[in-house]
Amino acid sequence: MHSIYQYQNFLSDYLQSQYETKEPRNLYEPIHYILDLGGKRIRPVLTLMTAEIFNADYKKALPAALAIEVFHNFSLVHDDIMDDAPLRRGNATVHEKWDLNTGILSGDAMLILAYQYFEQYEPAVFRDLAKLFSKTALEVCEGQQWDVDFEQRDDVTIAEYLKMIQYKTAVLVAAAMKMGAIIAGTSIEDANLIYDFGLNLGLAFQLQDDYLDAFGNPETFGKQVGGDIIENKKTYLYLKAMAFSNPDDAIELNRLFSIHPEDSSEKIEIVKALFNSSGASKATQDAIHDFTFKAFQTLEKINISDEKKEILKDFGERLMGRKV
Ligand code: IPE
Ligand code: MN
Ligand code: MN
Repeated sequence: MHSIYQYQNFLSDYLQSQYETKEPRNLYEPIHYILDLGGKRIRPVLTLMTAEIFNADYKKALPAALAIEVFHNFSLVHDDIMDDAPLRRGNATVHEKWDLNTGILSGDAMLILAYQYFEQYEPAVFRDLAKLFSKTALEVCEGQQWDVDFEQRDDVTIAEYLKMIQYKTAVLVAAAMKMGAIIAGTSIEDANLIYDFGLNLGLAFQLQDDYLDAFGNPETFGKQVGGDIIENKKTYLYLKAMAFSNPDDAIELNRLFSIHPEDSSEKIEIVKALFNSSGASKATQDAIHDFTFKAFQTLEKINISDEKKEILKDFGERLMGRKV
């Protein structure tokens, strides 16, 4: 096994080895730009790690890991357009640095590039990976559409929210891990169990993302803090605050989440104060712990050594404690 840091390095070396100077530059430069901004590379690290957990050489999993990362970055380029986001990983988003059309087409090309990485696998593995990938990618689109639809609604339930984040975020974390298992040729049972582990970890991850979107440190977070509040995203924080607030506060929150003021700084401050005073912040932290713990319970059923279970638990605990 290797450390997270080592996996990140293997990935960046592999990524750099894939670059060639290709025309037109306005198609490929934004792709290299967003990929070189790095990020935590959580999903592809999980692909490599899972392959090794199930006794395969991580090198075999590099193409699939990069497919996952390129797909993820494609979804971010388009997501940043949809969310009107100015910042990603502490830098200008692609549509801000170039323009809208560049973001659309470079994103499209990345989705295709992602698929091409699977061509490096033998037919049986290729089929399984491509099938899982197509299913997952479509689910991500479904989750994204719900996320957008919810901006306009004021009757979103917690169950609907959880389903939305399962689709837009958790299924990709789950699939990233299952791909490692597929490449290692594990039993179907273990492949499905590791998928469940990733799914619960992914839910905890997105809840944490929502929390940090409001309460992260603007110096280090890398994205516009308060972006979800500006866009009236019906996050767990918002839904719990609505449920816990007295009628006056609930009316005020509902009102604030139906407007788009020119200057949003006051709205953000009021909303954050209500998230805290209502107990919604605490409830979100609790839910992050619950989903992480649920992931750990799934681990118990997997046919791997205790040592390897500890490695995965350690990863989950680090994610729970992350600040960016
Ligand atoms: C992004 O969700 C999900 C996908 C790109 C599929 P968010 O919009 O909540 O993520 P951030 O906060 O911009 O990273
Ligand atoms: Mn979004
Ligand atoms: Mn976004």
